[in-house]
Amino acid sequence: MKSAKKIILGCAGLAVLAAAGFFASTYRSEIAPLQTIPVQEFTAQQIAQGKMLVTMGDCAVCHTAKGGAENAGGFPMPSPFGTIYSTNITPDPETGIGHWSYEAFERAMRHGIDREGRHLYPAFPYTAFTRVVDEDMRSIYAYLMSQAPVKSEAAKTDLGFPFNIRQGVALWNWLNLTPGPVAPVANQTPEWNRGAYIAEGLGHCSACHSPRDSFAGEKKGIFHLAGGSAEGWDAPALTSATASPLAWTSDDLLSYFRTGYSERHGVAAGPMAPVAHGLAQLSDADLRALTTYIMSYKDEKAAPGDAHAFVQQANDTLRVPADAEGLRMFQGACMSCHSADTKQGLLAATTFGSRPQMALNTNMHAASPNNAVLAVLEGIQTPAHPELGTMPSFRYTLSDAQVATMLNTMRTQYGLPEWQNLQAAVAKLRADTDPAKTQH
Ligand code: HEC
Ligand code: HEC
Ligand code: HEC
Repeated sequence: MKSAKKIILGCAGLAVLAAAGFFASTYRSEIAPLQTIPVQEFTAQQIAQGKMLVTMGDCAVCHTAKGGAENAGGFPMPSPFGTIYSTNITPDPETGIGHWSYEAFERAMRHGIDREGRHLYPAFPYTAFTRVVDEDMRSIYAYLMSQAPVKSEAAKTDLGFPFNIRQGVALWNWLNLTPGPVAPVANQTPEWNRGAYIAEGLGHCSACHSPRDSFAGEKKGIFHLAGGSAEGWDAPALTSATASPLAWTSDDLLSYFRTGYSERHGVAAGPMAPVAHGLAQLSDADLRALTTYIMSYKDEKAAPGDAHAFVQQANDTLRVPADAEGLRMFQGACMSCHSADTKQGLLAATTFGSRPQMALNTNMHAASPNNAVLAVLEGIQTPAHPELGTMPSFRYTLSDAQVATMLNTMRTQYGLPEWQNLQAAVAKLRADTDPAKTQH
């Protein structure tokens, strides 16, 4: 008995020592503050390139608070552990990164460690940014450091115990971070490799589009890009596991990236809207490369499907009574925009344009009602591009029961099973997105 106890105690002691050793080995020291920013070393070309790369990396999307100065931080990111606020990445010495040398900046981007040696939370997608090659990293630094400094103290992240112990992130990094650029894959084309560099690096697509494990790490392998979540929205699978009724083609993807809209699938709304807005500014060659890479996760031989025939069939096959309550609600609240063909009064309207065709919209076909409900409750106030138009919020005009009845009638009309417990799901999403609660 006694010796067994000793062995257990001994093992526990060793485990504690090993843990202490592990954390000690992850200790990083402060990098000396920079006294003056070496602007004279930055070339105009570097700064221009950096601007494009910063767009590719959506830096301003996360580092700009609502109504705040660009990149001055304070944008809240809800996480299961509490709210994490982005930091000021303008070159202000006191409140921003004005004291950061290139070495400090690079360490943050590749290892998630700030200038003073503290671990940053992985809400900052450094697991993806770590892949940025040196030349691009220097351009990003040159661009950020040559912008106007903004003195603005961003809201402080204050997570509860144990998540307030930043050193704990070291363990997460050990599981999830492979630092440094990745060599091109030899048996793939340069275009595919360029696409991989954009998607897996600055584009950080998998941060939203891959599912996460119970420690909030991205699942890899067959789960890569197989569907994740972002700010309460579902980020659909980019693989063949897509819920989209028509297979995606290269042209569909190019159009979606270029315009924020594919007439055969739908719009880039929710957290995808600012991403699509940024993607539209990339060169044709880069968007083509991104398309080639994403297509390699799909079944490229899948028949693209005839959109008109699909919609026609949805129109011709009346699966719900013409006077169904959900149908009448759709006609009253939605048809003015989502159909040009009011005389038929069917759910599956035949308009193409910036009004997404409901019968083809990925979100109507998804296993989860999340995005469709959010679009109806919140509306779409900031589309990826102004030309796409906005959609009003129905938060105050439709009840939970009305939203549920309407969406499930549409599902039935498209030959899909009803979403289960939909009314409760609408009620929950309504509470989660209550403007009074999320005001910041
Ligand atoms: C998905 C949101 C997101 C995106 C996109 C993003 N960041 Fe951040 N970033 C954050 C958050 C959140 C923090 C703060 C993390 C913390 O406090 O632990 C942060 C911290 C940083 C820091 C550390 C600053 C400091 O004062 O500690 C730097 C540098 C940085 N980001 C640069 C960038 C650059 C450059 C880009 C674009 C290439 C970028 N970020 C894109 C969310 C983001
Ligand atoms: C901040 C989170 C986020 C990031 C980063 C992100 N996405 Fe998305 N993406 C979403 C969400 C949410 C949707 C659903 C949008 C909607 O339905 O309106 C979406 C939708 C899409 C769709 C349409 C899918 C469908 O079947 O309808 C494509 C294609 C896509 N994203 C590609 C990408 C690529 C490529 C990248 C990287 C360059 C990327 N996304 C980065 C969140 C994100
Ligand atoms: C005033 C015009 C208008 C009305 C009314 C309207 N919509 Fe929309 N809807 C739009 C526009 C425009 C978009 C595309 C917005 C964008 O991303 O730019 C859209 C997008 C959508 C999407 C796709 C969201 C996504 O992320 O893929 C859904 C679903 C949707 N609407 C459902 C509805 C329903 C249901 C109603 C009725 C309750 C409705 N809409 C009423 C204009 C409208």
